[in-house]
Amino acid sequence: MITRPKGTYDIYGEDAKYYNYINNVFTTISELYNYNYVRTPIFEESNLFHRSVGETSDIVTKETYDFKDRGDRDLTLRPEGTAGVVRAYIENKMYGDVNQPIKLYYSGTMYRYERPQAGRYRELSQFGVEVLGSDDAMQDAEVISLAYRAMEEMGIEDITVKINSLGDKETRDRYRDALKDYLEPHIDTLCEDCQKRFKTNPLRILDCKVDKDNEVLKNAPKIKDYYNLESKERFAKVLEYLGYLDIDYELDDNLVRGLDYYNHTVFEFVSNMEELGNANTLGAGGRYNSLVEQLDGPSTPCVGFACGIDRLILILKELNKDKTIENNLDVYITAVNEEEKLKAITLAQDIRLSEIKCEIDTLNRSLKAQFKQADRLNARLLILLNSEDLQRGIITVKDNLTHEETKVDENEILDYIISNV
Ligand code: HAM
Repeated sequence: MITRPKGTYDIYGEDAKYYNYINNVFTTISELYNYNYVRTPIFEESNLFHRSVGETSDIVTKETYDFKDRGDRDLTLRPEGTAGVVRAYIENKMYGDVNQPIKLYYSGTMYRYERPQAGRYRELSQFGVEVLGSDDAMQDAEVISLAYRAMEEMGIEDITVKINSLGDKETRDRYRDALKDYLEPHIDTLCEDCQKRFKTNPLRILDCKVDKDNEVLKNAPKIKDYYNLESKERFAKVLEYLGYLDIDYELDDNLVRGLDYYNHTVFEFVSNMEELGNANTLGAGGRYNSLVEQLDGPSTPCVGFACGIDRLILILKELNKDKTIENNLDVYITAVNEEEKLKAITLAQDIRLSEIKCEIDTLNRSLKAQFKQADRLNARLLILLNSEDLQRGIITVKDNLTHEETKVDENEILDYIISNV
């Protein structure tokens, strides 16, 4: 038997219902915030990720799925969505559009060669938004509130919004030097990865999971003491707007994020649910004002987030574990012989085109088995077709709650169903 590749899973049954539900909530809310859908390729030129997510990030150095196609091109399965959206923005000259800023949302699978565990997969699904062309702190707050409100709409209330600012380049350069000076004498106490990060990306040492209890890191200089005036005022504005939007946030000095493209605001949505273990970050994002330019586009300030749909499925299943998912079938039509079956399929079409959920039997079950199936599907109305009735132009409808049966004129059946489901 061929089995699925390690780190992947099949979304079906209950998971599939949650998957669609989560996407629907995010899509509806994104549309309300006036974002437009974008779809970019699942594979891109490998260079795109090296030049954006970063040569020093774990995602690019250890986790990408790289391959050569039959034309000898170097391609990579996207590990995240932001780089592709930025590439599409530049390539399609969206910066020339009269409607600015460009506000986009996307949903799709991403690929990371990570060690699989609950909530951490090699094929993962994200829903994300990116806003290209606005530098206003209000835009940061809007992006954060969109994600927060969507998760709230799903019934997830126990979320902490962790937030930090990495400041602008000047701030970060000064801070990086100070951090290196401070860490140098203690380098031996850091984990092997952090010893490498010391040279390539010292800020990442701050959110190392291995070293998180190391006293040296706890006492390290804080970036907030290195902000220049502009960075400081900008961050204060973002927090002020979040306050007005009633979003409880927690300042986290050590939040730096694992992707290289961020500056100014960075944030994560963390669930307090124990079952998720350390896969408890439901979503994350931030500002990336230099990325468009870095990828040869015009200087464009941007901000965005992405949420992990797989983790949201886990959390919604846990939150709703005592509730059964409603299987809200409106109408089940029973039919046994050919004449009844012909009526069943045409009537089902009319009912479905009236936006009423309807099921027919395609397994040639006995009438008794069809009744059982209608019960299993929780059908609201049963249409009991029989040849005798049909010859008299009549259809019998049974209310599955009251068990009452009604004879309805065949010409009025659709109206009857519409007013009784
Ligand atoms: P990220 O933090 O790498 O950010 O991923 C965002 C979310 O995707 C995570 O918070 C998590 O919920 C989910 N996720 C990541 N890896 C896995 C995995 N292996 N299995 C399951 N879920 C996972 C980004 O991807 C940025 N592009 C976010 C962004 C958008 N920044 C600006 N715009």
